[in-house]
Amino acid sequence: MEASGVMNNILIRNGRVIDPAAGRDEVCDVLLAEGVVQAVGRVAQADAKGAEVIDATGKIVSPGLIDLHVHCREPGHEEEETIATSAAAAVQGGFTTIAAMPNTHPPADDETAINYVHQRSAEARLARVLPVGCITRGREGKELAEIGLMREAGAVAFTDDGEGVADATLMQRALQYASMLGAPILQHCQDPSLFGGVMNSGPAAVRLGLGGVAASGEEIMLRRDLELVERIGARYHVQHVSSAGSVELIRQAKAAGLPVTAEAAPHHLLLTDAACMEYDSNYKVNPPLRTAADVEAVRAGVADGTIDCLASDHAPHAAEEKALEFALAPFGIISLDCALGLYARALIETGLCDWPRLIEAMTAAPARVIGSDLGTLRKGRPADVTMIDPKKRWTVDVSKFASLSRNCPYDGWRLTGRAVMTIVAGEIKYQTS
Ligand code: DOR
Repeated sequence: MEASGVMNNILIRNGRVIDPAAGRDEVCDVLLAEGVVQAVGRVAQADAKGAEVIDATGKIVSPGLIDLHVHCREPGHEEEETIATSAAAAVQGGFTTIAAMPNTHPPADDETAINYVHQRSAEARLARVLPVGCITRGREGKELAEIGLMREAGAVAFTDDGEGVADATLMQRALQYASMLGAPILQHCQDPSLFGGVMNSGPAAVRLGLGGVAASGEEIMLRRDLELVERIGARYHVQHVSSAGSVELIRQAKAAGLPVTAEAAPHHLLLTDAACMEYDSNYKVNPPLRTAADVEAVRAGVADGTIDCLASDHAPHAAEEKALEFALAPFGIISLDCALGLYARALIETGLCDWPRLIEAMTAAPARVIGSDLGTLRKGRPADVTMIDPKKRWTVDVSKFASLSRNCPYDGWRLTGRAVMTIVAGEIKYQTS
């Protein structure tokens, strides 16, 4: 079912309320009114007069899920995705907030672009779409973008995602500026001088006759950045961690007390470079799918908290572009509509995480990265709620995605665990049985 429209008072009864930021995991009720959380606990009917009552027995009631890594493609490639369609895909997947990557056309490198995302998000009235600004002007890696003005306009973070910032002086300056503004730098760790291929460097690439991208290109930039972070003390977030070596570097940095956070994407938790053997470009992604040992390390990193957040790196592309031969097709996988079930497959079904940890990685942890008051059901906070049926078995059907694109390798996968209701600012935006 689609969004049902405005509803001011909602009483969610008898669900397992998991709110890691508040240290809560108990069966109880949640009362939403006037767009905020009014009460969590045992709510008497008399206190919820006129409220629509939703029975959440057997369901998990979570703070609205947050995805820090979504490519909305607007402006520039509205045939692939728009801010409104990504917000629709988000609520269908259980996400109440997504962060919009700035590698649009033109790139989001000034305050006008940041205002544009806010405006389009407000018009869509689905998930909240938070703007992320570029680190460098035009994403060209040559000079700093207007970070201060973008921050004033409401940019929640900065990244040149799709490219790493190669110039060390520029990266140092970016960290200094962002730190002054209290904003995190999100880095796509990839040294461009070590990026000569289209899939992971290894036997599969050799067999296929395709150029390889070694994990060293990710790890070398990460190592350099950690040196800078140690000197500057700025908040630094590693996007889409793909290699065992990166997980270990982040683990050591955290042990040393550096203000570092990290995220992992569904494909790096579930797929290896063996998936590329049929030259199917739906498995072409940057950073590339790596080895089984890397997948195991990324999973272990999420389980022990080295990797704080789960983030989809939802990257829509037009069918005619993905139909090109593997070497020429663009990098990217979409998964916003089905990410929750994919995370459950990788982390819950394997016994590596429980639901509280999974939910923390999709609520409290991403909220902390961007310094947001979202991601919790504390009284007075925005009434963003995701109701999850942890036992629901369902089949991924890309034809039903709200996303405009179809470059999804999970079509036909049988998953367990799905968002059955998504509430944003006290309004039901998505509901399924
Ligand atoms: O696979 C990817 N696709 N990785 C990126 O870093 C960029 C993204 C895109 O924009 O398509």
